[in-house]
Amino acid sequence: MGFLGTAAGWQADTTLLLQVAGFIILLSGIMHAKKKIFLRHFQMARITVALGIISLIWMVTSLVRSFQIISSHVTALSSFLTLAHATIGVFAMTAGILLAFDRLVIKTKAPMRTVFIIWAAALFLGIIVYIRYYIM
Ligand code: HEM
Repeated sequence: MGFLGTAAGWQADTTLLLQVAGFIILLSGIMHAKKKIFLRHFQMARITVALGIISLIWMVTSLVRSFQIISSHVTALSSFLTLAHATIGVFAMTAGILLAFDRLVIKTKAPMRTVFIIWAAALFLGIIVYIRYYIM
């Protein structure tokens, strides 16, 4: 049983909290960038990516476990939302890791904004998936 009072187990609740906390840290990192404190900005973005990587343990496990059911009911809303989330999530995570570890993605405004938007979209869909699975 989880600790948020929904039907979710502790793994899903922990994943939700880690991802939301990571996003808040990212937003605070953006505030630092606006104040031109770039070292702190990059440190906070790295923490967000690290929390995202830890969260992958549960998300990938859950996806592998339920992949057969999801792929045989692709048109069902829950399956569609999960697949859409996982697809955007793969882009967000890959771009986030490349950015955080200074690989391929250049740290200028436009690429960073793009990665932020993809990350926010992945989080939004993740929260929708959580609501669909464990609250509705
Ligand atoms: C930046 C990237 C990502 C963010 C912000 C994110 C966020 C979230 C959140 C907040 C949840 C709800 C908590 C939960 O139900 O466990 C979730 C669930 C889930 N995510 Fe992600 N996610 C990301 C990437 C991925 C990736 C790359 C995959 C698959 C390869 C994935 C697959 C899933 C699955 C299958 C669930 C449902 C887990 C369950 O059964 O409870 N996510 N995600």
